[in-house]
Amino acid sequence: EKGTYPHFMLKEIDEQPFVMRKIIREYQTENNELKLDQNIRQAMNSCDRIYIIAAGTSYHAGLVGKEFIEKLANVPVEVHIASEFSYNMPLLSEKPLFIFISQSGETADSRAVLVKIKEMGHPALTITNVPGSTLSREADYTLNLYAGPEIAVASTKAYTAQIAVLAILAVDTAKTKGLPLDFDPMQELAIVANAMEVLTDQKEAIEDLARKYLHTARNAFFIGRSVDYHVCLEAALKLKEISYIQAEGFAGGELKHGTIALIEEGTPVIALATQENVNYSIRGNVQEVVARGANDMVISMKGLERDTDAFVIPHVHELLTPLASVVPLQLLSYYAALHRDCDVDKPRNLAKSVTVE
Ligand code: F6R
Repeated sequence: EKGTYPHFMLKEIDEQPFVMRKIIREYQTENNELKLDQNIRQAMNSCDRIYIIAAGTSYHAGLVGKEFIEKLANVPVEVHIASEFSYNMPLLSEKPLFIFISQSGETADSRAVLVKIKEMGHPALTITNVPGSTLSREADYTLNLYAGPEIAVASTKAYTAQIAVLAILAVDTAKTKGLPLDFDPMQELAIVANAMEVLTDQKEAIEDLARKYLHTARNAFFIGRSVDYHVCLEAALKLKEISYIQAEGFAGGELKHGTIALIEEGTPVIALATQENVNYSIRGNVQEVVARGANDMVISMKGLERDTDAFVIPHVHELLTPLASVVPLQLLSYYAALHRDCDVDKPRNLAKSVTVE
């Protein structure tokens, strides 16, 4: 039921702080220890490499998850698009662990990989919003996203839930391995939940930005470096699928190697700046596009902001910035689609779960 909301998508965007808090509760014991199946701990500890397999938005969450697992748990991770992996399998390590990320648990492209790697005898963990779904039943282990039903075709709260659960999984693995850690995931996720609430309360400001930058736009670019780049891929997908504006997410430093040719007078370029180590360089990339006439919108994080930034998100831990920065980007897509009279919850040509290869 969407209650007083005009669309499921808006409701689901608003639910994200509650989903974060639900995940904190579900993955914590009474003594504030992380709560995770021992078999999953064992699998995470005994593998020599992790292969994340997913499609679309879930793939984008996987890209962020790779950062957590490599940086915190010190396990190498490859992230693969399911439909490519199926027919073009890379050389596997000796003791691979496969992690399938899927909101629905029914994506046929991901299932095709699962069937193949099970035949090869490799272990699989599915991270899904639907325990009992095909991918959950056919894998050895399941982690639940606890996001509640996601009805809008465009995925929002499942993406942030996937990232939060991947952060918990990475920290848990680091702890079991006895690795040094100065990151309390539950405390940091609680800060994220509060930041999300601040962000969902700023709908009017974001609607104004959508009107100002995207109302008549034919195309749009999202640029970022490091983890901001991964969020840019997700932001571009979201904008394309519901507003039909052609959009591309780009690594800030790669722009000048060709794509900058597409920048014209008035082309909207949305830049993310949430990472201290690349703050200077991404701003240089913004200057490059502004010099070619782009209409720049910088979305930065408190502490890294500059006077001319269009929007500033509250400060959260640098590893978890995607959970906050994606919220204004989801809202931006929502309002851009709304202003164009698009069918926000049911965009053309799309289905909620893609059960064909
Ligand atoms: C985008 C979107 C799709 C799905 C993709 C994978 O908003 O919803 O890109 O993320 O089809 O679906 P799941 O996660 O159900 O495997």
